[in-house]
Amino acid sequence: MTAERPREAGRAVAASEQGLTRLVRGVRAEADFWRGIVYDALRFRRHAWLQRVRSDASREARMLADAHFLEYGMALREARPGFGLARAARLAGDLLDGGVQGAAGGIGLATLRAWAAFNAATGMPAVVERALALAVPACDGAGTETVTAGEIRRVAPADFLAFARSRHSLRQFARGPVPEAAIRRAVAAAQEAPSSCNRQTCTAHVWTDPALIDRVRRHQAGNRTFGHELGGIAVITSDLRHWEHAGERYQPWVDGGLFAMTLCYALHAEGLGTCFLNWSVTPEVDRALRAEIGLDDGQLVIVLLGFGLMPDRATVCASPRLPAETALRLNPPLAG
Ligand SMILES: Cc1cc2nc3c(=O)[nH]c(=O)nc-3n(C[C@H](O)[C@H](O)[C@H](O)COP(=O)(O)O)c2cc1C
Repeated sequence: MTAERPREAGRAVAASEQGLTRLVRGVRAEADFWRGIVYDALRFRRHAWLQRVRSDASREARMLADAHFLEYGMALREARPGFGLARAARLAGDLLDGGVQGAAGGIGLATLRAWAAFNAATGMPAVVERALALAVPACDGAGTETVTAGEIRRVAPADFLAFARSRHSLRQFARGPVPEAAIRRAVAAAQEAPSSCNRQTCTAHVWTDPALIDRVRRHQAGNRTFGHELGGIAVITSDLRHWEHAGERYQPWVDGGLFAMTLCYALHAEGLGTCFLNWSVTPEVDRALRAEIGLDDGQLVIVLLGFGLMPDRATVCASPRLPAETALRLNPPLAG
C-alpha cells in the first residue's frame, strides 16, 4: 500500500502519490513531526531548571547567569552602585552551597568580589559577606575589562568577507591525522562564541581515530558518500541542565549553532576542511547515536561537524548565494 519512495544519499525523494498512499504518508509525516516535538520537549522538561535547580550543572549555570547579571550591571555606561543585591545573594548562596568547587564557581566568586568592590559603599547582605570570606582562589579577569577599537583593528582579519567566502563545505579530504593542537585551538575559539547569559552550555565531542569516526558517522546519513575520508568528527551538544525556563526551549539550538559556526570558522582558519552534518533525525536515530557515544541524557545533540586535512586542490559545490536583498532589509518601514 505504501511503496518505498526512492532514496538518494539517505533522503527519500518525493514522488507524486495519490489517494490512500498519499493520505497514509501524510498522516505518518504528521505523526513523526509531533513525535519529534514531544521527544525534544520531554528531554528539555527532564533537565532544564524550570521551577527549581535540581543538579550541580543547573546550579553552575545559575551561578554563571547571576555572575553575568552582576558584570553586566558594572559594564553599563550608567553603572549604578547598589544594583543586583538579590542576584548577588543568590550567587553567594550557591557558592556557599558547594558551588564554589567548580570552574563556574571560580567565575562566580571572582565576579562577586569585583561586584563587592564596585559596591564598596553599599551594605552587603550577610550571605554575600560569608561568600566573600571563602578562602578559595577565584578565576582571573572577572568583572569588567576595557577594550579599545585600535586593539580590535590590530587583530581583525584583513578581509573577513573574503575569509568567509573562502570556506566551502569540503567533501574530499587529504589522508592523515588532524593535529590535535589545531582542534584544541579551534575549540578554544568556539568557546569565545557568545552564549546566553554567558552560560556556555556547549561541548564538542570529538573523535579522530578512523575506527571511531566510522562508528559515529554511520548514524548520520549526509556523510555516506565521503565520510570515510574524514580526519575527525565532532558531535556538538548543549547541556539542557543549563537552561532555565520555557522561553528558552529553543535556546540550546541557537547557542549550539553559534558555537558550531565559530568552531567551523576556527577549523577553517587552521587550514582544515569542514562539512556540517545535519542532525535532522528521528528519535530512534538520535537514541542510537546517544547509545553509541554514551551521551548523558541531559545533553541535546545540535549538529555534527566533519573535518579533515585540506587537499592541495578540491572540487566543491559552488552553492551560489541568493541576492543580498534576501538577507538584508535595511531600515524597512514599521507598521502604522
Ligand atoms: C546544519 C547544517 C547541516 C548540514 N548537513 C549536511 C550533511 O548532512 N551533509 C552534507 O554533505 N552537507 C551538509 N551541510 C552543508 C550544506 O549543504 C552547505 O553548507 C550548503 O550547501 C552551503 O555550501 P557551503 O557550506 O559550501 O557554503 C549542512 C549544513 C548545515 C548548516
